[in-house]
Amino acid sequence: MPTLIVTTREGEERAIDGEAGLSVMEVIRDAGIDELLALCGGCCSCATCHVHVDADFADLLPKISPDEDDLLDSTADRDATSRLSCQVPFTDALDGLRVRIAAED
Ligand code: FES
Repeated sequence: MPTLIVTTREGEERAIDGEAGLSVMEVIRDAGIDELLALCGGCCSCATCHVHVDADFADLLPKISPDEDDLLDSTADRDATSRLSCQVPFTDALDGLRVRIAAED
């Protein structure tokens, strides 16, 4: 299983064995990290699954869709590393991926 490394808002780092095929949001949620609200359940309509992704992995991620881009624009903590974690499939190629949960809006 690929490993996802998550930094919480309090700065705690957790290494999670994630199931490939789930989204990054689902891997975080299934690990019990409930500060990632993911209110819409992964439908790309809430932006409460916002994370910052390690820039070293940027080339391995799918492109941002117009819907994801619009939603990220509605968040205060957006920067060049921002993604909605429900829109990023977790795959073996992303083993070791580091994400940091974005500030709450
Ligand atoms: S869970 Fe709502 S946009 Fe990702």
